[in-house]
Amino acid sequence: MEKVMIGNMPAGMAHVIIVGAMVNGKANYNTLGCYGLISLIPPTIYIESIKPHYTNIGIRETGYFSVNIPNAALAQKTDYVGLVSGYDIDKSDVFKPFFGSIDKTPMIEECPINILCKVIQTVYIPSQPNVEIFIGEVVEVYVNKESMTDGKPDLNKIRPLMLTGAGGLYWEMTGSPAGVVYQEGKALIRK
Ligand SMILES: Cc1cc2nc3c(=O)[nH]c(=O)nc-3n(C[C@H](O)[C@H](O)[C@H](O)COP(=O)(O)O)c2cc1C
Repeated sequence: MEKVMIGNMPAGMAHVIIVGAMVNGKANYNTLGCYGLISLIPPTIYIESIKPHYTNIGIRETGYFSVNIPNAALAQKTDYVGLVSGYDIDKSDVFKPFFGSIDKTPMIEECPINILCKVIQTVYIPSQPNVEIFIGEVVEVYVNKESMTDGKPDLNKIRPLMLTGAGGLYWEMTGSPAGVVYQEGKALIRK
């Protein structure tokens, strides 16, 4: 099979997440592509959100964050909260928040899956001073009832919004294009 070297941007399909945290008394959200599972027992995940992000302030302060998995219908809002910073714009009204057992950590009602995490460690990489990795133990997972079949999450109903880093595109899980990264959300920027 012939291979084409396209640079060093990871091109694999990953689903996008929206992280939620309470910052200075208000819900704030940011979009991340860098996230993953560390272990199932105990259920542990990581998110990478660079140090200057506003959201990080709330995660450091409260010790909790939420991971929300948007579907393709939320592409525009997902892009928007990844385009603008809570430092400049109040993003608390972009989504409808709900709360689980930790009342200081907003989760997003519109997203079919919500994962509430407690920070158990924060990791820094000396050669990459901006990188901040929060390792979170999963406290609770919520799934929209309509996105389940026989009591289990159903990927066909969840339709997570996918991302290819190389090319900067959003995709439907089916492979149909769902937008351009850092473009879709521009229409929501209030002048
Ligand atoms: C599709 C997409 C993926 C992103 N992935 C990451 C990421 O993995 N890590 C990161 O630090 N920022 C990432 N960003 C950028 C942040 O979401 C963006 O800078 C955001 O405005 C920060 O908001 P805040 O300052 O309110 O926290 C991504 C943005 C988009 C649109």
